[in-house]
Amino acid sequence: MTTRETKGAAETVDGGGVQTVTVVDNRTGRTYELPITDGTIRAMDLRQIRVDDDDFGLMTYDPAFMNTASCRSGVTYLDGDRGVLRYRGYPIEQLAEHSSFLEVAYLLVHGDLPTRIELETWVEEITHHTYAHESIRRMIAEFPPDAHPMGILQAAVAGLGTVYPDAKDIDDEEGRHLQSVRLIAKMPTLGAYGYRHMRGLPVVEPRNRLSYSANFLAMMFAVGDPGFQPDPRIERALDVLFILHADHEQNCSTSAVRSVGSSQADPYASVSAGIGALYGPLHGGANEAVLRMLDRIGNVDRIPEFIAAVKERRELLMGFGHRVYKNYDPRARIIKTACDDVFAVTGVNPKLAIAQELERIALEDEFFVSRQLYPNVDFYSGLIYEALGIPPEMFTVLFAIGRTPGWVAQWREMLADPEQKISRPRQVYVGAGERDYKPVGAR
Ligand code: ACO
Repeated sequence: MTTRETKGAAETVDGGGVQTVTVVDNRTGRTYELPITDGTIRAMDLRQIRVDDDDFGLMTYDPAFMNTASCRSGVTYLDGDRGVLRYRGYPIEQLAEHSSFLEVAYLLVHGDLPTRIELETWVEEITHHTYAHESIRRMIAEFPPDAHPMGILQAAVAGLGTVYPDAKDIDDEEGRHLQSVRLIAKMPTLGAYGYRHMRGLPVVEPRNRLSYSANFLAMMFAVGDPGFQPDPRIERALDVLFILHADHEQNCSTSAVRSVGSSQADPYASVSAGIGALYGPLHGGANEAVLRMLDRIGNVDRIPEFIAAVKERRELLMGFGHRVYKNYDPRARIIKTACDDVFAVTGVNPKLAIAQELERIALEDEFFVSRQLYPNVDFYSGLIYEALGIPPEMFTVLFAIGRTPGWVAQWREMLADPEQKISRPRQVYVGAGERDYKPVGAR
């Protein structure tokens, strides 16, 4: 196989199995043959391309990591052009239909689906670790009543590192397992504590007779009802939402977890960094923004006006577009179905009609079609959360709960990867050249 680039000096050659690209440096006329592995060249191979001995060597410039693989990963496969998402090889559609969130968490963390015994042991372990240390509960109680629960969650997770100093020993395999279990187990508890604090309600301790998702709903919503048991359709819908959010390869928050973890910080500090990244409206905060957008649109008749504002760049169609998916996000399709199940219990959310009409119009409009903008996971998830009585401030907290097994799996994979070192990007310096300091009176 030979492919030739039209512009300039890059070509790939398949000569007896080893693929290479030949680069001609037009500054020097020198030719370099760089190996291609898994469709990538090593950025460090470019360093040899220099004009003279003083030259640092060629670097790549890739703001926002548009075309740079930062790791080799076996956790999640994503083909954004075809709308494919698989965890450890299993299609997301099959997992959403047949699996439970804790089974998926096991799959992500351990690499394979558990046997029945392994699953029982795993569920028992997670359930055993749902309680949070008293100091963390007290810390949450000290936040102002209007504190955003995502800020509380980030602080609480970082705080767990103070409760478990053994977590610093990241080389201990048993320890890594224990911290992984603790993180997945305690995330709903901390999230629900933040919610109860926001509502001025006493916390509900974990109810270990309930499933992971039912227990979360109990910690959120039970008021003086020890027998609280959510409708099984709601419990299942929440479990599916957690499954859909469980991992998404090297997104902003996962990269943050890996980046902080690469300094050998404990996993609580690393996951707390991931929560910070997820907090932003362009990442996990988008479903909250979708609801606000639907509120502002108000009714179906005002959609054309809103779409016009998007095209004039005065608005963003929140819940549309994705860095990687240039096709329908498969998670959005599953969530759309989950909407029906939830609304059968709760009654239809009136914003659904606006969302569906927005989607219909956008998918036919040249502006969105030409830019390959499709609904992402956040377009419909907020509607479900709202129907469940979950306030918008909590949406990202639910995302964080779902994403925790993915963060944990990626953190563990990074630690086991002999090629990984402390994460440290390069820069292109564009600031002032050397200049002399002037005393303040002389400026
Ligand atoms: N509404 C209107 N126009 C959009 C939107 C949108 N939601 N998303 C992208 N575009 C336009 C851009 O203006 C750009 O147009 P141009 O080429 O004419 O300048 C083009 O589509 C390409 O978009 P980029 O911004 O280059 O895409 P990028 O990959 O950088 O951004 C992102 C992806 C951040 C998700 C973006 O689509 C966006 O802001 N969407 C809305 C927020 C959102 O829903 N985020 C959730 C993402 S999913 C998740 O985190 C779970």
